[in-house]
Amino acid sequence: RARTAPAGLGSTFTTWLLKEEIGGRVDGELAIVLSSVALACKQIASRVQRAPVAGDTGLAGDVNVQGEDQKKLDVVANEIFCDVLRTSGRTGVIASEEEDVPVAVEETYAGNYVVVFDPLDGSSNLDAAVSTGSIFGVYDSDEQCVPDFDAEDDAAVEEKCIANVCQARPLHLHSHRGNNLQAAGYCMYSSSTMLVLTVGDGVYMFTLDASIGEFVMSHERVRIPERGRIYSFNEGNAKARSISHCEGLKRYADDLRAGGIDQNGKPYSARYIGSLVGDFHRTLLYGGIYGYPGDAKNPNGKLRLLYECAPMSFIAEQAGGMGSTGTGRVMDVEPSEVHQRVPFYVGSAKEVQYLESFLA
Ligand code: AHG
Ligand code: MN
Ligand code: MN
Ligand code: MN
Repeated sequence: RARTAPAGLGSTFTTWLLKEEIGGRVDGELAIVLSSVALACKQIASRVQRAPVAGDTGLAGDVNVQGEDQKKLDVVANEIFCDVLRTSGRTGVIASEEEDVPVAVEETYAGNYVVVFDPLDGSSNLDAAVSTGSIFGVYDSDEQCVPDFDAEDDAAVEEKCIANVCQARPLHLHSHRGNNLQAAGYCMYSSSTMLVLTVGDGVYMFTLDASIGEFVMSHERVRIPERGRIYSFNEGNAKARSISHCEGLKRYADDLRAGGIDQNGKPYSARYIGSLVGDFHRTLLYGGIYGYPGDAKNPNGKLRLLYECAPMSFIAEQAGGMGSTGTGRVMDVEPSEVHQRVPFYVGSAKEVQYLESFLA
């Protein structure tokens, strides 16, 4: 098919997706998966915005596989994602922060895509109505990943699928994407509800227009500033930083107070929302760097590779930025299990490279 021009500013997510499909940049099945994800995000946005009056704040009473006290909306958002992905009929395996192991979609509905997600990111901020989000990644599956439905337990699915899905082969900027990661994105629930995603051909942002119930394109081919003056780390963890990076990170933080790359004595500003989606979104638009190093509590950092660091790194790279573990590209890490954590530094290319020079 002829490659038609992508839909422009003001178009809705639906028309953009159709144009991407007609233009051959997205296949029909993936378009259905992404449309389902957008529906899930709209439903979660509605629940988040009304949480205090709908009795949706507070704890669910369970502890998830991460060892975290689940919020009521962690559970609700997970169910919403699982339901829309199952009924999309194009998803074979689902992996979620809130599921112990990957879930094989029952055969009747099963499709080929493997979808991973953090259904509600920054959920500790929810009761204070501070920005939260949902993060997702869509991995292509190949023959090894089709779950065998008579597998006696989910662990078999994990073994087969996550190993394959996680061959996060190097994703190349713009020209072609890695074999597996077909799309990555997030929805931020904040002063605006924004759906941000890439299908390997640039980063697009859609703002929810509640008057029509549609995501409307507000930013196209977003490029992250190549450097910034905002750094976003939880300095409360500074003392506990893991030995391997501790010395370098201390020198780095002191250096930023002396002006960082400019060395002009003007300290960088510190901004930390405590929701990866909010801190990442600001970094993507304003430039700078977000980091979550390893520390004594989490030697490999707190953030999860599959459904937080990898999707955010794909977006960052597609916008001309970088996603690093401090010693290499996030997208080069071949994890072995679904909830694997990695130290994570993401943002303007020059800022991430500057940080890496302190860890070398
Ligand atoms: P989640 O709510 O999905 O478990 O993620 C929370 C993460 C991330 O959103 C945020 O950047 C980070 O935890 C904040 O951790 P600290 O509170 O330790 O700074
Ligand atoms: Mn959590
Ligand atoms: Mn999260
Ligand atoms: Mn979460």
